[in-house]
Amino acid sequence: MRLAKFLAHSGVASRRAAERMIASGRVTVAGEVVTDPARDVDENSDVRVDAARVGPESREVFALNKPAGVVSTARDTHGRPTVVALVPSERRLYPVGRLDADTTGLILLTNDGELANQLTHPRYEVPKTYVATVEPGRVSERDLRLLRDGVELDDGITSPASARQVRFGVLEITIAEGRKRQVRRMVEAVGHRVVALERVAFGPLRLGGLGSGEHRRLSAAEVERLRKVAATIPRR
Ligand code: URA
Repeated sequence: MRLAKFLAHSGVASRRAAERMIASGRVTVAGEVVTDPARDVDENSDVRVDAARVGPESREVFALNKPAGVVSTARDTHGRPTVVALVPSERRLYPVGRLDADTTGLILLTNDGELANQLTHPRYEVPKTYVATVEPGRVSERDLRLLRDGVELDDGITSPASARQVRFGVLEITIAEGRKRQVRRMVEAVGHRVVALERVAFGPLRLGGLGSGEHRRLSAAEVERLRKVAATIPRR
């Protein structure tokens, strides 16, 4: 990787600022000053800025309980608040997948692009569990069976899912796909309307006691569990 890019990825500075650092002779590679921003380096190259060793940027993963009205893109063209703004970090974080603006609940944010890609790639089919409040509230066993077996949507039939009625008007649905507004569309396809939707689990992680708008950094063990899920779930 180019030296300037390596410094930027390590969180030392922006790409531009890294180029200036290099030009001013503050950067050494294996003990020698390097002024070429295109020098090829990797994690084993002993890159230093002002004599301090630069390592890969530490990876962070946060869980956030997204409130309604907050968008899960990194930026919003309509000026609405974003999930990224709710999680203060030195790192540049990205949401892992999307929730609709009006959906609440568990969303992950990370600066680990590889993990984020794996967790959202359709091939890995990470299960996600939602609690949907629906109207009309009387849901037949036939509707539940349809939700489980697959319903016809305009972008194709849905893969097998779990669906159960928690109480009158409240369903718990687990899907391993991630199509746009999928749960809302599935529920509509069986003749109901979602009036509230909350994600309560993402792979092995549960929302737990996290309050609306609150976030917490995942432990190393939790991140490891996420990585395992992304690495081992086979394609059906
Ligand atoms: N399904 C939906 O319909 N909306 C979401 O935000 C997530 C899943």
